Amino acid sequence: MSNRTFTMIKPDATAKGYTGTIINQIIEAGFTIKAMKWTKLTTEQAGEFYAIHKKRPFFGELVTFMSSGPIVAAILEKKNAVNDFRKLIGATNPAQAEEGTIRKKYAASVGENAVHGSDSDENALIESDFFFSKLERF
Ligand code: RTP
Ligand code: MG
Repeated sequence: MSNRTFTMIKPDATAKGYTGTIINQIIEAGFTIKAMKWTKLTTEQAGEFYAIHKKRPFFGELVTFMSSGPIVAAILEKKNAVNDFRKLIGATNPAQAEEGTIRKKYAASVGENAVHGSDSDENALIESDFFFSKLERF
């Protein structure tokens, strides 16, 4: 899985009409789409996905936000996918994200930050399995 990562275009970005341009920037950066779906999380599903942050003060806000509207979930392939994708999206807080990164361009705040990117190969696999069956990956 070291050549794969998992992403979501978050509800703020889909609502603002940034879905197409974000997907385009991902493809132009050299990532290949191996799976993709337009869907919406329930609060339960958002809580399960971000369970690692359950004790953090922003957890409630995060779950409410992530279930507030449609998202795009995708599996992406590229050499060094996890690290390269984190570089492409930029820092969690868009104010600290480098110029040209997806969060710098499209995120409004640390909470509503346009995209998710897996932070390890292990989590990329867990997160991919959360959304996609084997029959949905090409
Ligand atoms: P993500 O998992 O969504 O790719 O983001 P990340 O690794 O850059 O950041 P992480 O620490 O995993 O936090 C997950 C998401 O929680 C929200 N958050 N809000 N209000 C806050 O201080 C705060 N801190 C984090 C963000 O939506 C962040 O992406
Ligand atoms: Mg994270």
